[in-house]
Amino acid sequence: MTARLSRVLHRSLRETPPKAVGGEGVWLIAEDGRRILDASGGAAVSCLGHQHPRVLEAISRQASQLAYAHTAFFSSEPAESLADHLLGHEPGGLAYAYFVSGGSEAIEASIKLARQYFLERGEPARQRFIARRQSYHGNTLGALAAGGNAWRREPYAPLLSSAFSHVRPAFAYREKRDNESEADFVARLAAELEAEFQRLGSDTIAAFIAEPIVGATAGCVPAPPGYFRAVREICDRHGALLIFDEVMCGMGRTGTTHAWEQEDAAPDIQAIAKGLGGGYQPIGAMLARGKIIDAVREGSGAFQHGHTYLAHPLACAAALEVQQVIRDEKLLDRVKERGKQLEQRLTERFGNHRHVGDIRGRGLFQAIELVADRQNRKPFDPGLKLHQKIKAAAFANGLACYPAGGTLDGRSGDHVMLAPPYIATSDDIDMIVDRLGSAVDSALQSINHLNGDAA
Ligand SMILES: Cc1ncc(COP(=O)(O)O)c(C=O)c1O
Repeated sequence: MTARLSRVLHRSLRETPPKAVGGEGVWLIAEDGRRILDASGGAAVSCLGHQHPRVLEAISRQASQLAYAHTAFFSSEPAESLADHLLGHEPGGLAYAYFVSGGSEAIEASIKLARQYFLERGEPARQRFIARRQSYHGNTLGALAAGGNAWRREPYAPLLSSAFSHVRPAFAYREKRDNESEADFVARLAAELEAEFQRLGSDTIAAFIAEPIVGATAGCVPAPPGYFRAVREICDRHGALLIFDEVMCGMGRTGTTHAWEQEDAAPDIQAIAKGLGGGYQPIGAMLARGKIIDAVREGSGAFQHGHTYLAHPLACAAALEVQQVIRDEKLLDRVKERGKQLEQRLTERFGNHRHVGDIRGRGLFQAIELVADRQNRKPFDPGLKLHQKIKAAAFANGLACYPAGGTLDGRSGDHVMLAPPYIATSDDIDMIVDRLGSAVDSALQSINHLNGDAA
């Protein structure tokens, strides 16, 4: 029990985290004055760092004009401008935006729009969704059912819809056989997806859902070349939609606005969130191709969904400014450049580390995977809670990063994810890797100590 219990339900009900009272670029400031280097932007959220003056000014300008008007009656200038900014050039054919308050809501809307699209087209049998194991699509019940994150699903399994099934992830470090080429691995994954369409009945599938780069569940896992092209082809051949969840990996995090731009395959529907508003306001969005919205417009005429805070003017004003800053300050170039530096520094620091099995990711979205044994890729005993020890050691050393467990199967495996703000300097990147290196070594030392291993 803590000395003073908070009435706020925090993530742990046994301890109250320190209060954050300020921010300055890549730094967060705690109530005791400690400065914490924000190496993961929370959960890949704070793409512009903290307290960016242009975004604060945009929020205050909008707040002084109009904070809220319900979308049953009104649109707003920030919502219209944000949609134009994101979709005026129709990237990959995406032409319409539905603004919500976060990632899970964006996924719920994506699932429902896919279903409604097929109802409007007179294909009511399309009511199934295929997703992947070791994925995360959000914590509301629909999004949780779509996700393949075993430990998050487990307590709520009786409540999760059986409309969702899961196939093998494109996770080369864990799933590719040693004697298999990348192309053969992709062919095997494509054959498994095809078999799942056949097993369920290909005319019952509404959509396949995937994160182009898997985020927190498995730690920044890009797919091998050709995988998403193969997936796109399978969906097209069977008349199913392709939904990309870019809630975490999107909006510039990997060096292009959309992660799929590096994949040779565009989605029919896409969910975005974290880097859209950069944490300045809670906002997410579902983006959809014209043909989908046209089918609904020409059919029932309305998307049968909605929330009170759709297209919230303050949230849209903040997100618009975040996106304009990314454009004006040419931050995508910066993400590419700093991303290379981050990868290089991680490789220097951990490439020969006996307990780091893999370094992976793209742009400013990189992770290391910890292993007990590099040769056979054996994970640490989950009971050791290595990821939690790394998180604590890093935080004590002034670094906020995103370690997580269950990398392999929702139970075993440990990784650490990094997603620094796009404004990070070269010195910031060096400091992130230095501090992470110390945290990893001190956490491993405490485990070895527990195991009585002197190494
Ligand atoms: C890939 C992905 N999808 C969906 C979500 C859910 O977003 P939110 O937590 O904003 O509801 C997350 C959150 O981490 C995510 O990483």
